Amino acid sequence: MQKDANWWRHAVIYQIYPRSFADGNGDGMGDLPGVLSRLDSLKELGIDAIWFSPFFRSPQKDAGYDVSDYKDIDPLFGTLADFDEVLAKAHSLGIRIIIDLVPNHSSDQHPLFQAALKAGKGSPERDMYHFRDGKDANTPPNNWPSVFGGNAWTQIEDGQWYLHIFDSSQPDFNWDNPKVTEFFHDVLRFWFDRGVDGFRVDVAHSLIKAPGLPDIEEISTSMTGSDSDPQEEKPHPYWGQEGVHDVIRGFRRVANEYEDRAMCAEAWVLPLSKMAKWVRPDEYHQTFNFGYLSAPWKQAELRKVIDDSLREFGGVGAPSTWVLSNHDVIRHVTRMAYDEVPKQGDGIGPDYPQPDEARGQRVGRAATAFMLALPGSSYLYQGEELGLPEHTTLEAKYREDPTFFRTNGERVGRDGCRVPIPWEADAPAFGFNSTGKSWLPQPENYRRYARSEQEGVAGSTLELYRKLLKVRKQFNLGMGDLKWVEDLCDETTLAFDNSGVRVVANFGSPIALPAGELLVTTQHDLTIEGVLEHDQVAWIRL
Ligand code: GLC
Repeated sequence: MQKDANWWRHAVIYQIYPRSFADGNGDGMGDLPGVLSRLDSLKELGIDAIWFSPFFRSPQKDAGYDVSDYKDIDPLFGTLADFDEVLAKAHSLGIRIIIDLVPNHSSDQHPLFQAALKAGKGSPERDMYHFRDGKDANTPPNNWPSVFGGNAWTQIEDGQWYLHIFDSSQPDFNWDNPKVTEFFHDVLRFWFDRGVDGFRVDVAHSLIKAPGLPDIEEISTSMTGSDSDPQEEKPHPYWGQEGVHDVIRGFRRVANEYEDRAMCAEAWVLPLSKMAKWVRPDEYHQTFNFGYLSAPWKQAELRKVIDDSLREFGGVGAPSTWVLSNHDVIRHVTRMAYDEVPKQGDGIGPDYPQPDEARGQRVGRAATAFMLALPGSSYLYQGEELGLPEHTTLEAKYREDPTFFRTNGERVGRDGCRVPIPWEADAPAFGFNSTGKSWLPQPENYRRYARSEQEGVAGSTLELYRKLLKVRKQFNLGMGDLKWVEDLCDETTLAFDNSGVRVVANFGSPIALPAGELLVTTQHDLTIEGVLEHDQVAWIRL
């Protein structure tokens, strides 16, 4: 792997959700041998790094975000030797690998939690987690809700309660206990020593809880703590507590013991001025820009979130990241098919109005073409290079997301974006494996989106992504600077220059395409020359 201390400042990082990328042994669940067999396709796509969602030992109550052994691979996905092989091959292809760290909670099956249960009230073992007596025999210690629905406390046999901001199978660690810090520093070193290039840190903003675990005034299951204006938010007892910055600095010190490593925080912290504190020079390298992810495809909103991001992150010397899709949100080509979508985590089921697929494809492609020209690092979610939509008609009987169960189906949850991706239109399970098994059923329309249907087809979404990534690299857009072209910005258009490339987005009726060599455009298949149609983006050489 070539040395580059700044790789994360400009990298395009592709998220693999191991359950659904490729299945080597045919059991219906994706795995590392499957990934190995498909790595060349990622090289061809032109990405710089992969982020793996968890593949650690886990009872899979929250699709692997409930870890029972942080230093081993779950047999569902393979072995440590399989991981080493994937890492070595990725590195030989020039692709870096970051993996998930889940420090807020473990699985309830983790030996540390099992020991805490056995050791009893007031023991050092219990102090690794948050155990408390209730307000009275049947009332939990406070009113905190679980993000997945219901309340955040579960009572055990001896009458005490334990805290879990997510599912009851995911008890929260007590980060005020230095033994927890030691434990996780050891986990980081284990994987850094193995050669991983970095970590994505799960719910990084929830590790520290307010002293005394006080009640919340405004109950909400949103990961920012409130659905109201983030500028006006009061301090929340577990989202974004100040004390978390010491934890981050500890992680950074460990990362700095190694060369060229990077860490990215999943921190649903708003406003961006607050989020920027997470990437000060001695804290994380990156943080996901959820403000950008949540912005609609609208001229003014996009311009504002980009300006805010560049100002706030730039103010602390960090690059901004950009992201549109991941395993927790409705895929962006489906989100963008609506004027309004259910809130994060709620998902779309068969009873919800179904998306306008053509609109979603058009806007989704434009949004990607716009994003990939921005300076900084971008995250892609597996399948988006195919324009893959959300599975919006998944039947209740297949659902696995704990959100669905904890809300009695009221919030259908996140399974719709986690369905195994299609490779070959005419193969079993669309090439996900050779047996046709699939842990979540693939909808019939995935056939059309299969890679085999798009490879080499001019104007396909796959070819568009390849071209965008190629030109992005050629002009080094990730390391560039953005300058708005005021003459070309109005209520329905946005244009900026970056490193010799002019990027024009049209949100309204057709406009004349600015002069210059057309490097890449989302409207490849449209024939009207010299015109940029609505919801289309063009990159032009200056
Ligand atoms: C993060 C993960 C999500 C998981 C939750 C609890 O938000 O991205 O998938 O359910 O944390 O670990």
